[in-house]
Amino acid sequence: MKSRINIGVVGCGYWGPNLIRNFRALPNCRLKVMCDVNEGRLAHLHALYPEIERETDFARLVADPDLHAVVIATAVPLHFPMAQRALLAGKHVMVEKPMAASVAECEELIAISRRLGLVLMVGHTFLFSEPIRKIREIVDHRDIGDLRYIASRRLNLGLFQRDINVAWDLAPHDISIILHIMQEMPHRVNCCGGSHITRGVEDVTWMSLHFSRERSAIIHTSWHDPRKVREMTIVGSSRMIVYDDVAGPEKLRIHDVRIERPPLYDTFAAFHYAYHYGDTYCPYIKHEEPLRNQCVHFLECIREDQTPLTSGAQGLDVVRILEASTESLRNHGASVQLSAVNPAPARASHPTPPVHLHRNGDGDGSSARIPAPTLSAAQPRITHEPES
Ligand SMILES: NC(=O)c1ccc[n+]([C@@H]2O[C@H](COP(=O)([O-])OP(=O)(O)OC[C@H]3O[C@@H](n4cnc5c(N)ncnc54)[C@H](O)[C@@H]3O)[C@@H](O)[C@H]2O)c1
Repeated sequence: MKSRINIGVVGCGYWGPNLIRNFRALPNCRLKVMCDVNEGRLAHLHALYPEIERETDFARLVADPDLHAVVIATAVPLHFPMAQRALLAGKHVMVEKPMAASVAECEELIAISRRLGLVLMVGHTFLFSEPIRKIREIVDHRDIGDLRYIASRRLNLGLFQRDINVAWDLAPHDISIILHIMQEMPHRVNCCGGSHITRGVEDVTWMSLHFSRERSAIIHTSWHDPRKVREMTIVGSSRMIVYDDVAGPEKLRIHDVRIERPPLYDTFAAFHYAYHYGDTYCPYIKHEEPLRNQCVHFLECIREDQTPLTSGAQGLDVVRILEASTESLRNHGASVQLSAVNPAPARASHPTPPVHLHRNGDGDGSSARIPAPTLSAAQPRITHEPES
C-alpha cells in the first residue's frame, strides 16, 4: 500500500514517549506529529526530537490530510472520543489498552472501522513479547499436558489513577495474555477488591475467570504492594510454567512436576498420590522490545490490509471481562455470567511464529499439535448469577 505511513501520536505523558521513540526509529514510516494539551510535555519531547511537529489541538491533528494513522496514548475516558474522531476522519487507529471505557464504545469503534475499511488495533503489548509467544507455543504443543489454570499477579506501589480502578489499569495485560493462551472467553467472572486510598476506586482486586473444561484463571492486581511483581504461573497436567517478567533473561522456567493418581486401588490404605519431581529448565528467550514489535505489526496491517493480532475484537473481549468485573465488584464478588447470545464477528487466525523449545531430554518429547481452537464463537451477554 503506502510506501511511507505518516503517524501522529496523541498523549505524551508516561507511555506516549515510548510509542514516539519506537515509531520514530522504524523505516517506511514517518512520525509526523506528536500531540498533547500539556505544552511542557511537548517542549520536553521537542528537545529530544526537534524534527517532529508539535500540536496541542487533537481536532487539528485529525484534520491533517497527510496523516494516515493516529496512535492514542491518553487516559482511558478519552480513548473512545479520540478513536472515533480519528476513524471518522479516515485514519487507521492504534489505541492503548484498555480499548475504551465500555463494551458499547468498543462495539461502535469496531463498527466504524469495518464500515470504513480501516485498521483498528489495541495496545495489548504483551502479545508481542517473546515470553508470551513461547508460552503459547508450549501450551499449543501440549508440552505441559492439559492446561488446568493460570494464576497471575501484577503488583506495585502506585501509579494511582483516579478515573479507573486497578483492574482496568493493570489487568488488561493479564486478561489479554490469558485469552491468548486459553483461546476462548470465560463463561463466568468474579471480582473482589478494596479501595484504601481513593474512595470508590479499587487499588487492589482479585478477579477469577472460569472457562470450559474446569479451566480457570485468577488475576491479582494492586497499586498497593511493596514489591513490583509481574508473575504468571501456568499449571498443566504434566508440567508447569512460571513466567516472571522482572526476572532478567531467565523469565520462563518450566518445571517438570506433576501429581499422579493411581488409576485403580482396592482399599483406602492402598491409595496414595505420586508426586513427580523432574528437572526445571529455562528456554531461550530472544531479547526484543515488545512495543517495537507492536508498532511494526500496526504498520504491516495498514500496508497489507490485515486484521491485527490485537484487533478491535480482542480489545472488546478484554473490556467485556473488565465490565463484568466491575459488575461483580459492585455486588461483593457475585458471579457475573458471560452468556453466549449472538454470533461473534470472524477473527483472523494468527498462528504462533515458530520458536525453538530447548528441552532437557526428559519426557516423551512428543509435540503433537492440537488444532488451536478459535475464541468463543458467540458474543457473551452479562447476566447476574445468584451467589452460591
Ligand atoms: N501498553 C502498555 O504497556 C501501557 C503502559 C502504560 C500505559 N499504557 C496506557 O497508555 C495510556 C496513557 O497512559 P499514561 O500513563 O501515559 O497516562 P498519562 O496521564 O501519563 O499521559 C496522558 C497524556 O495525555 C495528555 N492529554 C490529556 N488530554 C489530552 C487531549 N485532549 N489532547 C491531547 N493530549 C491530551 C495528557 O496531558 C498526558 O500528557 C493509558 O491508556 C494506559 O493504559 C499502556
